[in-house]
Amino acid sequence: MVWTQRVFPLLWILIEGSSGKHWAAWMPQSMSAFTESCVAIPCRFDFPEEIQPSAVHGIWYFNSPYPKNFPPVVLKSKTNTAHEIYMGRTKMLGDLNEKNCSIQIDRLSSEVQGKYYFRTDLGGYNQYTFSEHANLHIIDEPYVLSPNMIVSGSETELTCLVPDNCPDMKPSVTWIEIEGLEHHSAYARLEESDGSWTHISTLKFLPSYKNNGQRLGCKVNYLETELEYKGYVTMDVKYAPRIIDINSSTEITEGTQVAFVCVVDSNPVSRIMWLKEDVLLKEDYSQNLTLELEYVTFNHDGIYICVAENEHGRSNKSMGLAVMYAPWKPSVNASIIAIEGESVTIMCNTQGNPDPTISIIKDKQVLNSVIFENELVLEIPSVTHEHDGEYWCTAENPYGQSNSSFNLTVVFSPLFLPESKCSVSKDTIQCMCTVKSNPDPVIVFEIPERNLSLSELDLEFVHSQRNGYMVSSILTLQKDTGIPQVVLCIASNLYGRKAQELLFHDSSKLVWAKIGPVGAVVVFVILVAVGGYMIKTREKKNLTESSSFIQTETSTSHNGQGNKKNLGKVESGEICSLERK
Ligand SMILES: *[C@@H]1O[C@H](CO)[C@@H](O)[C@H](O)[C@H]1NC(C)=O
Ligand SMILES: *[C@@H]1O[C@H](CO)[C@@H](O)[C@H](O)[C@H]1NC(C)=O
Ligand SMILES: *[C@@H]1O[C@H](CO)[C@@H](O)[C@H](O)[C@H]1NC(C)=O
Ligand SMILES: *[C@@H]1O[C@H](CO)[C@@H](O)[C@H](O)[C@H]1NC(C)=O
Ligand SMILES: *[C@@H]1O[C@H](CO)[C@@H](O)[C@H](O)[C@H]1NC(C)=O
Ligand SMILES: *[C@@H]1O[C@H](CO)[C@@H](O)[C@H](O)[C@H]1NC(C)=O
Ligand SMILES: *[C@@H]1O[C@H](CO)[C@@H](O)[C@H](O)[C@H]1NC(C)=O
Ligand SMILES: *[C@@H]1O[C@H](CO)[C@@H](O)[C@H](O)[C@H]1NC(C)=O
Repeated sequence: MVWTQRVFPLLWILIEGSSGKHWAAWMPQSMSAFTESCVAIPCRFDFPEEIQPSAVHGIWYFNSPYPKNFPPVVLKSKTNTAHEIYMGRTKMLGDLNEKNCSIQIDRLSSEVQGKYYFRTDLGGYNQYTFSEHANLHIIDEPYVLSPNMIVSGSETELTCLVPDNCPDMKPSVTWIEIEGLEHHSAYARLEESDGSWTHISTLKFLPSYKNNGQRLGCKVNYLETELEYKGYVTMDVKYAPRIIDINSSTEITEGTQVAFVCVVDSNPVSRIMWLKEDVLLKEDYSQNLTLELEYVTFNHDGIYICVAENEHGRSNKSMGLAVMYAPWKPSVNASIIAIEGESVTIMCNTQGNPDPTISIIKDKQVLNSVIFENELVLEIPSVTHEHDGEYWCTAENPYGQSNSSFNLTVVFSPLFLPESKCSVSKDTIQCMCTVKSNPDPVIVFEIPERNLSLSELDLEFVHSQRNGYMVSSILTLQKDTGIPQVVLCIASNLYGRKAQELLFHDSSKLVWAKIGPVGAVVVFVILVAVGGYMIKTREKKNLTESSSFIQTETSTSHNGQGNKKNLGKVESGEICSLERK
């Protein structure tokens, strides 16, 4: 670009097209110039054709077109005089004879800011002040233009407007304080508007949130002078929220109080939300949002998300909250009743964090145990009466222990115990029927040959004793009615009915045959004990009680000879069995 060769196409077309007809002048309506620099106001005028002036003169006035107001004279061509403010500062650039009224004003200062009017003097009365005038603005900094909205990430242009109307001085424009601008570049062009020239420098860059609030500027220098002008703009960069701080995942004990903070940086302010599993817990338009949990329970365990949004975007960050708590009281089966032989599944459920160690305990023995589980299953494929009892399920983790208990009741049909048998004493016959059973059995003695059926209800003959699941029923008959051949004991409950012939004491060989070698040893031990006891009591001979079966037997011993034989038989029986082994 050649700076000096300037043309004002529009202006000249207008002038040519209308020349020779009117009083008229053309000059820029408005011009700007830096203080201390200079300005050239381009100017053209015209007058009616019929006037043939011998000489063309002109006067520039400041602020008023009317000479009678005595406005300051900027420059008078005829005498080359001026008001003192303008003395030595102005010169006519144009040739008035060629209707060129351009003027230059140097060393501008704020005093010379105002309107400039041109008056032509063609001799005689042909003097005319044109109403067209130039308004001169004296500025001391370039004008920096920024777009209405600067959005992070979208290319932005800032422009610096520098008036360039001083023929003697050419501005050099640079951008300053642009460190940290991404992808920045600058270019310049000249633009003419209404005869006034502007040097336009454009700075292109990609703004980011970091540039928000940044001040940057445009600097104008004139070569070979000390003159320097600076204009600034502070950027308001809009950007999507950034979550700049959020708590890291946390482990916490149940019952405590916690607060999480989500700190957001955005422009404009964001809507911040705390969510847990898509449920909105709290929200606010703010720089940060605190989520407070007054009393943490296991329900608070989970992932928390902080979401921030404004019209420029949305972002989120999440954190985990692990709530540690002692195991809950285990839930166990309600007390169970099982039929012997059935399979039983015992379940123990609980919950704790960390997952607890669960054990099922019976009689202080751990039957089954799992580590880091919430459930324990104990399977008993086939229950027996030994499984009957109280069970405990305990659960434990570092935060505590808890337990529950339940009862397993095993029901079973009656089971005859080996001590069931009859014995004969001097006056009576006693038959004992001992049964293990749950629930309680109904015990009936039957003597078929007498068509007799006797139970507890027959108080005269039968009485019973209970000890846990053991019931002993004793039938007492008078010997003088004869010794029955067969006495049956029939025990029944909900789960079964069993019958057993009660053998007489002296038919011991038969007993051994029936109960087998193991039973024989058991009976042997019992008999030895009974025998030993009887020997002792025989020596003492002073026992008087007579309620139990054994005592009844001993009480018969001091009733004379008859039962001595009987006892002898017992003793020989056991020796016999010993020999057989
Ligand atoms: C008026 O005079 C100035 C200075 O000589 C010149 O630069 C300008 O081009 C002239 N204008 C016209 C319209 O000729
Ligand atoms: C979360 O962070 C805030 C601020 O840093 C802190 O005051 C608070 O105690 C933290 N909460 C937890 C549970 O760590
Ligand atoms: C959260 O915002 C409040 C007010 O807006 C301010 O006082 C506080 O310092 C902020 N806290 C953090 C951690 O930024
Ligand atoms: C969080 O951000 C991710 C990735 O930007 C997005 O897939 C997810 O839907 C967001 N979650 C929420 C709750 O806004
Ligand atoms: C114990 O409870 C579990 C779960 O409720 C059930 O599956 C199981 O059959 C129960 N056991 C018994 C013997 O009732
Ligand atoms: C069951 O819990 C109670 C109370 O915590 C405790 O005293 C007891 O010892 C526990 N019993 C077992 C079998 O763990
Ligand atoms: C289990 O039985 C015992 C007595 O045998 C009783 O004290 C306890 O309360 C019972 N437990 C449950 C859970 O029924
Ligand atoms: C026993 O009873 C049955 C029928 O009730 C009867 O037929 C039988 O004769 C009776 N026997 C005796 C010994 O009384």
